[in-house]
Order: sequence, then structure tokens, then C-alpha cells
Amino acid sequence: MTATFWAPGRVNLMGDHTDYSGGLVLPVAIHLGIELTARPAERISLVSDGEAVELSADGSGDARGWGRYVAAVALELAELGRPAVGLEGVLAADLPRGAGLGSSGALEVVVGLALCCVADFDLGQVELAQVCRRAEQRGVGVPSGILDQAASLLGCAGKALFLDCGTLERRWVELPRRLAILVVDSGERHSHEASGYSDRRTELEAGHPRRLRHVAAENERVRDTVDALERNDLPALAALFLESHASLRDDYEVSTPKLDAVVTAALEAGAIGARMTGGGFGGSVLAVADRDDAGAVLQGTLERAGAQGWIVGASAGAVIRRRTDSRRGRA
Ligand code: GLA
Repeated sequence: MTATFWAPGRVNLMGDHTDYSGGLVLPVAIHLGIELTARPAERISLVSDGEAVELSADGSGDARGWGRYVAAVALELAELGRPAVGLEGVLAADLPRGAGLGSSGALEVVVGLALCCVADFDLGQVELAQVCRRAEQRGVGVPSGILDQAASLLGCAGKALFLDCGTLERRWVELPRRLAILVVDSGERHSHEASGYSDRRTELEAGHPRRLRHVAAENERVRDTVDALERNDLPALAALFLESHASLRDDYEVSTPKLDAVVTAALEAGAIGARMTGGGFGGSVLAVADRDDAGAVLQGTLERAGAQGWIVGASAGAVIRRRTDSRRGRA
């Protein structure tokens, strides 16, 4: 059996730095993602860009770099009783790493999906998202929430995922047909292992007033964004995006001058609204525009700031794409 697994990255329409305190988020899965073509094997042997990772089937072994995510997912699954079947395969991605688009979450999800599949180990999507979130902490020590992994697994074409990260209650919100979502990569790379991500979480838990104020207001903005999308109220959406960016910049202090410059560039280029998306300290900006203007807005933004950009659709979540069951005796 050889199968191809695919897991998308995400952009978060609203609700950043709210997930790890059990708040609200509103991500969409995007068409950029990570693909893994693999088959069952004795050990876990994966290759990406010529770099190999070799582990025992239960995830034990010497893991470095991105191999730490792979090992951590396998170890988490082993603790839940996944039979120790290995995996041999090749990873390929069109999702940039460290660009604030959920690349580590997508890697955890694609590996988790493949490890479950080769071992015939049934796990619900939410359970797998929880495994992958724990793997993020176990593998690289980043105390993230469940935003990226949930978006990658639960994404739905044309819709945003409205998720309560405390109760994991969820529903999907239809996006207005005229609304285009633009992602602009600032070119400033981040790694939450080294960024101030963990500090922000610690500060929030210690009751830092401005961090708390951001989270309370951002949760409200998620509800208001859902309302605005459902009413097709674009001026309301524009205001919410600006408030969110200002709050992430001033109260949560996770934006950078570069991200601020990309937001300004997008607005000057005619975007309805723009804000940083994801953990910050570099990464990407999300802008929304009328579908007819989207190409010009993206081009205008990139002429002013930013490294690369995409008009993204809200994509379906992670899938097993092709599966060829090779019959015994066939070449
Ligand atoms: C990163 C984390 C997520 C979330 C966002 C900020 O992407 O992985 O869990 O905290 O930052 O919203």
C-alpha cells in the first residue's frame, strides 16, 4: 500500500493568541500544505528536501530539526496504543516554513494521519488534533494552543471554522462569495521556539493587564467577525481587522515593524481590511478584498512591502489523496 496524505496550512481570520487560554478562533485551511507519500515499513524513514529522519516505529530514537515533530507525534500516538508500524516516505511542501501559516501543525497532522493509516489505528479528527498539539509541546517545547492543528484537520471548503478552544465546540461559517482572502508573507521568518511566544503565554497566565485586555477583546472580535461575515457587513469586518492588528501590536506586542508595514501596504493597495495572522514575531499578514480587486490588491501590496503572496481559498482539511493497494505477486 502506498498512499498520499495531505495536510493544509491555515490563516486565522480572527482570534490570535486566544487558543491557549481556551478562547475563540476563526481559521480557514488554505490550499498550501504538506504532502507525504508513504507506505508501511519497519521503521519511520522520512525524507524532505534531501534531509532524512530515521526513527523506530514508536517514535523513539535520535530526532533533530523537523524530525522532532515526527518523533513527538509517533510517541504521543504510541501512548494511545497505536501499533508500532513504521512508515517510509517523502515529504513535499508548497507551504512556506516559519511564515506564520501553521507549517509545523501541518507537518504534525500529515505525519499523524499517515501513522494512523499504516497501523489501521482509528482516531477521530479532534483526537488527532489534540495529539498533534501535545506533540508540538513535546517535540520543540512550544506551549501552543490547538488552532493550527484543528484548522488543518477540520477545514471545510468555502467556510471558516468557528472553534471554542475551551470546549472544542465548533461550527463552520460560510464566507461571503465576494470576499477574497489574501495572504502576504512578510519574508520575516520566525520560530516560536526562539520567539517571545512562550513568554506571552506566561505573562497572560500571570495576569498581565494588557495581555488580558487583548485576549478579552479578541474573543469578542471573533464573535463580531462571525456576525459580520454572516451579515456580509464588510465595513464592520474592516474595523475588526484594524482593531485586532492594533491590539496584537500594542497590547500583546507580537507584531513587528515589518508586519505593520505590510498591513499599511495592503490598506494602501485597496484591501478592505488587514491584520497580522498567527503567532507573530514575523510571518504573514492576512488581507481581505473584493474578489474583483484581489489580484490588483495583492500586486499593489507586494510592490510596497512583503516577499510573496497568495489569494487563498478556504480549503477542505487534511485528506488521504490516493491509495493504491498493490496486490501480492504484482510487480
Ligand atoms: C501559533 C500557535 C497557535 C496560536 C497562534 C496565535 O500559530 O501555534 O496555537 O497560538 O500562534 O493565535
